[in-house]
Amino acid sequence: MHAVVLVGGFGTRLRPLTYSIPKPLLPIANVRQLEHLVAGLGRAGVSRVVLALGFKPEPFFEAFPEGLCAGVDLHYAVEPEPLDTAGAIAFAARDAGIDSTFVAMNGDILCDLDVASLVAFHRERGAEGTIHLTPVDDPSQYGVVETDADGWVRRFVEKPAPGETESRVINAGTYVLEASVVERIDPGRKVSIEREIFPAMVADGHLAAMATEDYWIDTGRAETYLRANLDLIDGSRRLILSSVGPQAHVAATASLVHTVVGENAVIGAGCVLVDSVVLPGARLGDGVRLERSLVMGTVGDGCDLTECVIGADAVVSAGTVAKGVRIPDPARSSW
Ligand code: GTP
Repeated sequence: MHAVVLVGGFGTRLRPLTYSIPKPLLPIANVRQLEHLVAGLGRAGVSRVVLALGFKPEPFFEAFPEGLCAGVDLHYAVEPEPLDTAGAIAFAARDAGIDSTFVAMNGDILCDLDVASLVAFHRERGAEGTIHLTPVDDPSQYGVVETDADGWVRRFVEKPAPGETESRVINAGTYVLEASVVERIDPGRKVSIEREIFPAMVADGHLAAMATEDYWIDTGRAETYLRANLDLIDGSRRLILSSVGPQAHVAATASLVHTVVGENAVIGAGCVLVDSVVLPGARLGDGVRLERSLVMGTVGDGCDLTECVIGADAVVSAGTVAKGVRIPDPARSSW
């Protein structure tokens, strides 16, 4: 079976980190996000993954020069212009010649979903498409999905006001689709799967959905990207990974508390790093204090940074004390 993974977005909310590395290639506990995701697809029997690329395709070619990711064959489909979620899925499916049931998923989620169980649910119902759903505590910021007792989608409620819906489950970004869904999507124009294609399928009674309680996180914001990393080192997930990457140099007097250090990063003497992610190649001088921060660049001696996001080219001067800043500062993003 094929899977199409959407990896062509701009990753605006994770700037400045995504200035140098596209979001799906950012490491989560020292393994690229895309490798976590493709490994899960491989376990479900997916034999070929089609990467729906747009913005910055070159780093993907460089990251997987053999055309293999987590042991699964890759096919690259590069859009001439951003086609939005459905446009990108259809472009990639046509490019790769997909003509039977396939999986499609957003490239910026991490989850423990057993994709094979979603495929089985889809087949049992004879659905044209099936969406994976996940519960949230506060659905007011999401597109909520209402289903009937047999698992057919009845309605989407975008950012519901209190009392507007009883449902607490949202679209979790993994789908099983029949090839006929591709025919619903006009070639060459921007089409959203969530806003245009799924509502049309609901109107036809062809869209099913399956909710699971497994681990699920959308890693697209700084706060959730940080949490996704820490969840993999502290036992929040079934999988526990090492918190320090290969060839990292951590001074003996530095203390790491609930923190991930990437490969080749350098951590100076007396640093105290709490609830943070130091990305591959970052350099921290002596006596740096980090709390809930993400660092790719260079941080000088004695800096004290809380809830900061530091990009690859940034050099933070010694002694800087900052809270809630991004360096360099992207015009549009928030913690
Ligand atoms: P933000 O700019 O921070 O909103 O991130 P994003 O651009 O990644 O957008 P969003 O999180 O809404 O996208 C969900 C998924 O679809 C991500 O995996 C994106 O990479 C992908 N995506 C969004 N738009 C496109 C597109 O036009 N083409 C392709 N190929 N992928 C897309």
